[in-house]
Amino acid sequence: MNDARQYSPACERNREPILHELRDHLASAQHVWEVGSGTGQHAVYFAAHLPHLIWQPSDRSQYHASIEAWRAETALPNLRPVLAFDLFDEAPPLERTDAIIACNVIHIAPFEATDRLFAHARAALNPGGKVILYGPFVHPDRALEESNQRFDQMLRQRDPQSGIRPLAEVDAKARACGFERALTRRMPANNDLLVFERPL
Ligand SMILES: C[S@@+](CC[C@H](N)C(=O)[O-])C[C@H]1O[C@@H](n2cnc3c(N)ncnc32)[C@H](O)[C@@H]1O
Repeated sequence: MNDARQYSPACERNREPILHELRDHLASAQHVWEVGSGTGQHAVYFAAHLPHLIWQPSDRSQYHASIEAWRAETALPNLRPVLAFDLFDEAPPLERTDAIIACNVIHIAPFEATDRLFAHARAALNPGGKVILYGPFVHPDRALEESNQRFDQMLRQRDPQSGIRPLAEVDAKARACGFERALTRRMPANNDLLVFERPL
């Protein structure tokens, strides 16, 4: 056991349903850039189960030790070393990519980070590339579930700049960079997986 590995029980629970979706949405992708990789558990799981992909994890420096520890443990040939990246940074020195994925990031970061995410996507994605977001969202046609209301309150008390984002506002930010939401998949525990595409 490598001590630097952080462990998120939520990752353990949601990785399989997310993988199920990624199998479809990343079937013809090659390079995937993950933003906000966190512990690194998703990166190793998805890279292991989707060996046709080259998986590029990234995050802010406090997560690097854990991501690298999980990576060392698994020694996957298609999992790249972690890239130091904050959404407010300039574009990272990456080759163009086929998909950008961010799980549970946009309700944690200030909402301006979502504008940055789509701006980076516009610059970094190959034609036909996708932005995949996973997490809780406020839907226009229904009240936020009780569990998400509590989660949202907790987030805002901890950091007033964080909070569960209204889907319509996320769509508007995507549209400002040329992306449209092409798919919304309801996921366990009142989460959603969203796929955004930019019309060719
Ligand atoms: C709740 S964790 C989610 C980690 C992982 N993706 C998961 O689903 O378990 C939120 C992540 O968002 C990242 N994050 C927050 N603000 C960010 C920013 N401005 N730029 C890049 N990543 C950010 C954090 O560093 C952290 O890894």
